[in-house]
Amino acid sequence: MFCRKLPKYLVTLARSYHRTGSKQSLQASIAKVPDNLVKALAGIVGDKNVSTAMAVREQHGRDESYHDCAPPEVVAFAESVEHVSEVLKLCNDAEVPLIPFGSGTGLEGGVNAIRGGVCLDVSKMTNIISVHPEDFDCTVECGVTRNTLNNYLRDTGLWFPIDPGADASLCGMCATSASGTNAVRYGTMRENVMNLEVVLADGRVINTAGKDRRTKKTSAGYNLTNLFVGSEGTLGIITKATLRLHGIPEDTISAVCNFQDVQSAVDTTVQVLQCGIQIARIEFLDEVSVDACNKYSKLDMKVAPSLFLEFTGSPNSLKDQTQLVGDLVKMNNGSDFRWASDIEERNHLWKARHDILYACMALRPGCKPYSTDVCVPISNLPEVIVRSKEEIQKAGVVGPIVGHVGDGNFHVFFPVDQSNPEEVKVVSEVARKMAVLALEFNGTCTGEHGIGMGKRKLLEQEIGEDGLDVMRQIKATFDPKGILNPGKVFF
Ligand SMILES: Cc1cc2nc3c(=O)[nH]c(=O)nc-3n(C[C@H](O)[C@H](O)[C@H](O)COP(=O)(O)OP(=O)(O)OC[C@H]3O[C@@H](n4cnc5c(N)ncnc54)[C@H](O)[C@@H]3O)c2cc1C
Ligand SMILES: *[C@@H]1O[C@H](CO)[C@@H](O)[C@H](O)[C@H]1NC(C)=O
Ligand SMILES: *[C@@H]1O[C@H](CO)[C@@H](O)[C@H](O)[C@H]1NC(C)=O
Ligand SMILES: *[C@@H]1O[C@H](CO)[C@@H](O)[C@H](O)[C@H]1NC(C)=O
Repeated sequence: MFCRKLPKYLVTLARSYHRTGSKQSLQASIAKVPDNLVKALAGIVGDKNVSTAMAVREQHGRDESYHDCAPPEVVAFAESVEHVSEVLKLCNDAEVPLIPFGSGTGLEGGVNAIRGGVCLDVSKMTNIISVHPEDFDCTVECGVTRNTLNNYLRDTGLWFPIDPGADASLCGMCATSASGTNAVRYGTMRENVMNLEVVLADGRVINTAGKDRRTKKTSAGYNLTNLFVGSEGTLGIITKATLRLHGIPEDTISAVCNFQDVQSAVDTTVQVLQCGIQIARIEFLDEVSVDACNKYSKLDMKVAPSLFLEFTGSPNSLKDQTQLVGDLVKMNNGSDFRWASDIEERNHLWKARHDILYACMALRPGCKPYSTDVCVPISNLPEVIVRSKEEIQKAGVVGPIVGHVGDGNFHVFFPVDQSNPEEVKVVSEVARKMAVLALEFNGTCTGEHGIGMGKRKLLEQEIGEDGLDVMRQIKATFDPKGILNPGKVFF
């Protein structure tokens, strides 16, 4: 379809992109719309699937984070893997940046077109290709979201449990190695992806575990699947994912309880895990986020450090689990154990938990979320949370803490007034200190949101210079011209 020999206009275009991302050149490259490139894109995906309208570009130039919008020059919508492959060939030949866009719910500025270029929106690729109930797996196209998949699976008795707060695309979730409240029981995307179809920068299509392979285990060579999980659009475009499914548990009960301090809440969590209780979810909210949650979701929880818990299993196992956890909570002076066993009450509770980002933003209307996402060995969690809280208080900012506490993972969703650079600076300094603290405590600067543009410096601190060099070498192998989501993960 597209002429493989590089046309002249593409050579010119390529040269203009070879500047680094300084502010001036960035604006210069964003200001103009390259007509010829747009035509070539339309030749591949069709006129209706290409847009240079400012509203569409702006919508694709940012995710849900505080990072300034950086609109791509043009947005193309792919409807098939062939489209993706041809568009990549085009951009690779022209050396034009290409940024994959899933559903734009990321929290680290993953989709922002900081070097201009083409945004490739894959949300129209929504086929559920196969479901194998007896093998507990399914294969989906990249635009399928987690809620769409779970609605589709409803009658099979199976579900896909990975649940970031947003209804994100499943391949976007692969790209950021997402997880959520269910990770304590089911793991993260890493543990639940078996195979990926990926289009490389030069347009080649590979299947990371081999075409149509979907075995529970394999010892066949390097794990390419894992390499693409968490690659944030910098190594290739994921067009299909084969995912592990799980049985929907027989019965479910949820509960909320509160504690005098953070330490007691986390101690309870550690003891629950040590007792071998297969808790389905265990989430920490500090008093600031409980307050936000009460206001936003019309709950009336006591404003104190709290745990949201969920138990699943047969009625008998539920009885055992809840009794044991009840005792542990009492032992740690937790109080106000409130049960929600009917589905409506339960859904209300977990919807409140999932809406917490918006609840935190509602504390300061008009603000955007500046989020931090650190993860430490769970034994270090109380100290890291307490010291983070001190930093937040010292800086005098609003910083609700919410944690996937069973995984040693917690977030602060600072509501930030983007129009106030001084405030952004103060908050980003607190966030940086928290990440450095997590690294000091043998943790990571991001448990699930990714590096994006906000944590590139921290990545080097985390894995060291040599580790980062190896990552760069891997990137160069897959994307020698550096067209894929440039400026993300690395500088
Ligand atoms: C309210 C709220 C709550 C959230 N809670 C959580 C949470 O609990 N846990 C969690 O992990 N995250 C959470 N997130 C963040 C977000 O939902 C995840 O990062 C999600 O994985 C992003 O998916 P997406 O499809 O929206 O990706 P996008 O935002 O579109 O893209 C994210 C990154 O992946 C790349 N990308 C997207 N699609 C592809 C593809 N097909 N191939 C290659 N690269 C691709 C993009 O270029 C970008 O770098 C939350 C977000 C919101 C708004
Ligand atoms: C390879 O990586 C994937 C994705 O992280 C994971 O699900 C799978 O179990 C890994 N395979 C092996 C053999 O380790
Ligand atoms: C619980 O409270 C009692 C009485 O105030 C106190 O003696 C005890 O040390 C507390 N236990 C824990 C684990 O905090
Ligand atoms: C980090 O790990 C090292 C090696 O195990 C250990 O010596 C050190 O005490 C740990 N740091 C913290 C703060 O736990």
